[in-house]
Amino acid sequence: MRTQVVIVGGGPAGTLLARLLAAEGIESVVLELRSRDHVLSRIRAGVLEQGSVEVLSSIGLGGRIARDGFVHGGVNLAFANRMFRVDFEGLVRRSVTIYGQTEVQKHLYEACDRSGQEIHFEAEEVKLFDLDTTNPFATSVINGQLHRVEGDFIAGCDGGHGVSRTMIPNPRTYERVYPFGWLGILSETPPVNDELIYNNHERGFALCSMRNPNLSRYYLQCPLETTVEDWPDDRFWEELKRRLPTRTAEGLVAGASIEKSITPLRSMVTEPMSHGRLYLAGDAAHIVPPTGAKGLNLAISDVVYLARALAEHYRRGSDEALSRYSETALGRVWKAVRFSWWMTTLMHRFEDQGSFGQRVQEAELDYLASSPAAQTAMAENYTGLPID
Ligand code: APR
Ligand code: PHB
Repeated sequence: MRTQVVIVGGGPAGTLLARLLAAEGIESVVLELRSRDHVLSRIRAGVLEQGSVEVLSSIGLGGRIARDGFVHGGVNLAFANRMFRVDFEGLVRRSVTIYGQTEVQKHLYEACDRSGQEIHFEAEEVKLFDLDTTNPFATSVINGQLHRVEGDFIAGCDGGHGVSRTMIPNPRTYERVYPFGWLGILSETPPVNDELIYNNHERGFALCSMRNPNLSRYYLQCPLETTVEDWPDDRFWEELKRRLPTRTAEGLVAGASIEKSITPLRSMVTEPMSHGRLYLAGDAAHIVPPTGAKGLNLAISDVVYLARALAEHYRRGSDEALSRYSETALGRVWKAVRFSWWMTTLMHRFEDQGSFGQRVQEAELDYLASSPAAQTAMAENYTGLPID
């Protein structure tokens, strides 16, 4: 097979890139390791930055997001049995939209179906070749048969455990592994609050989120060695109530979990994000802890930059934007990595920092509660810095 852009990975980054390229008349072929159902079965975060909503709207997803998404004009931070709201709309005139990543992925696949986009699921053993030539290609094994796809470019959108990142020679890897995980639960109960609540507590972090008025999403900071089996529903709900402000806990509606999982937290960036005709985007290049809800939003901004640069190549024969892609994308990536690290460090219990660390966190939260300047800084980062 021959195409213009070979896309490795059919998650949000890969499929959104395919749609953005198609809008520019650029052909692509997507090679996805898993089945479509498996990709759609993944439970992921659910916060879209305002800029991400604008990008998804530009490829026709705006109506669904406006209909089924929940626009939030702020978030709540709780600590020391207090709670305060950071008013995004009042401070920076921007908002975020609660909309499940699974829904985004479902609509991206449907858009690919409607347009006849070529996606090969269960494409195994993907290997990349001739990246430093103008005719790179990928091989894969599909239904036991060896396939070869040639292209002008290869986009590595294969996530945190993919093959593309391993093809960057001598990469610089920056990593911070956090000494805890998030235990997440989905329950068909009314959310405890109509907006998100991020809780700092000496017993550990807790997050109150939602998917719709009868589908709640909660997370508890948990030790890395814990397992889902250690946390029957009753224990989860009791611990969540202990970490919430008293008045909030009184309104908590517990119920049977319909999903429960544990996610480790780490920050990681690989530099550079390109080599020859290979360009990395999304989790293939960087991983952020879910505290700042940046993972999906960074995948979106990466592929916006990459699609613009590829369009310049095909439309004007200019490779200037492609040559600057890594620098451009990393400029926004590192600001989001910093913000995610800052929120994680501020809101979680770090045993090695003891009671002093807890009091310093509470002092910073007390300052944030009373400073419009500090809240403005948080608001512009949480709602998303511009995709320049
Ligand atoms: N060959 C082909 N496909 C692969 C390979 C491979 N060797 N390895 C992984 N993949 C596929 C995965 O099955 C997955 O569907 O690449 C896709 C990568 O998708 P994501 O991991 O979702 O990463 P990305 O598209 O960058 O989206 C980032 O999605 O998973 C969340 O937390 C993540 O919110 C972030 C967002
Ligand atoms: C979620 O609803 O899954 C969610 C929301 C905000 C986060 C992380 C996860 O920071």
